Amino acid sequence: MADWTRVCALDDIDEEDVIRFDHDGRTFAVYRDLDGGVYCTDGLCTHEQVHLADGLVMDDTIECPKHNGRFNYKTGAPLRSPVCVALATYPARVVDGEVEVQL
Ligand code: FES
Repeated sequence: MADWTRVCALDDIDEEDVIRFDHDGRTFAVYRDLDGGVYCTDGLCTHEQVHLADGLVMDDTIECPKHNGRFNYKTGAPLRSPVCVALATYPARVVDGEVEVQL
């Protein structure tokens, strides 16, 4: 089982928003929903290599800033063309007000 890695304080991510998180030469996107839940996916869109942290979060969806493809960031499922390959997702949690991910 992989270790949990600290990302930031929960308050550093606005509700219904996303931040970029770089770790060990990889890049991720970490999301916060309206209920205080946190989620983590690969940072780059599966269509072209564009960072999703520059995209728009709406409900459970992240919209890519380049061609407006959409994923469900909680499951990684592709929702709108041109994306057709799912995003990898990783476990995320909040402990004592700190966001942690398991990569
Ligand atoms: S790069 Fe994300 S939809 Fe094209």
